[in-house]
Amino acid sequence: MNAVITGGTKGIGRAIADKLATEGYNLVLCSRSEADLAATKQALLTLNPSISVATAPVDMSQKAEVLTFGDFCLSAYDRIDVLINNAGTFIPGELCAEADGALESMIETNLYSAYHLTRKLVPNMVAHQSGYIINMASIASFMAYPNGGSYSISKFALRGFSKVLRAELMDKGIKVTTVMPGATWSHSWAGMKDQLPESRLMQATDIADTIWSVLNLSASAVMEEVVLRPQLGDL
Ligand SMILES: NC(=O)c1ccc[n+]([C@@H]2O[C@H](COP(=O)([O-])OP(=O)(O)OC[C@H]3O[C@@H](n4cnc5c(N)ncnc54)[C@H](OP(=O)(O)O)[C@@H]3O)[C@@H](O)[C@H]2O)c1
Repeated sequence: MNAVITGGTKGIGRAIADKLATEGYNLVLCSRSEADLAATKQALLTLNPSISVATAPVDMSQKAEVLTFGDFCLSAYDRIDVLINNAGTFIPGELCAEADGALESMIETNLYSAYHLTRKLVPNMVAHQSGYIINMASIASFMAYPNGGSYSISKFALRGFSKVLRAELMDKGIKVTTVMPGATWSHSWAGMKDQLPESRLMQATDIADTIWSVLNLSASAVMEEVVLRPQLGDL
């Protein structure tokens, strides 16, 4: 099985890469840092020397780079079984106070990235009449919260994209899942480590284990939407 994970070097994406590598998936990963990609590839091949890992430095906010990355994925493997649209960015703020350009920046990184890469890879899945597309949305995809600002708009939009895709692909053998995590320890939360107990947030491995469940339902079932929260609720 072959999986593409955007933003596979840190946080949730990296935990998914670790899980799929352990389970024997060949991978294609991207992020903006070549050094992180090289280190991640090395670590994944140490976890499981029998898989192959292809990496490409890509800024997923840039349409031209996303399209080139799509070609790279298709040249790496004849068949793409799993696409995980995970790369995303969170710039906190309020709509009327956030910096000019915050909406555009997060729409480009959190929505257009998934839209353009999915359109590039779906024909390959349709040809095989199978595949999984997993979109990493957020609890910000269905609720407003303090300082969610344009991040929330971008994640509502990503959920909308995911719902439309689900409807369009259900008769083509392709499963589409929207994953909506609450607060999860990752690079973005690093500054809070000394203020909150480890147990207050979810672990990235919780999301990765959920993805594994999504990939292991019977052929006749799809997990359309998944909401995950810390046991003690939102922060
Ligand atoms: N952590 C949470 O609490 C939480 C909750 C709900 C949803 N999410 C969503 O889960 C996803 C992963 O979040 P995370 O917390 O794991 O983030 P993270 O630790 O900051 O990791 C983000 C990953 O995406 C890559 N990335 C970011 N911007 C990119 C770009 N423009 N082009 C290519 N790669 C890019 C990063 O690598 P580079 O920086 O090197 O490019 C990194 O590999 C995001 O979509 C986020 O919105 C997170």
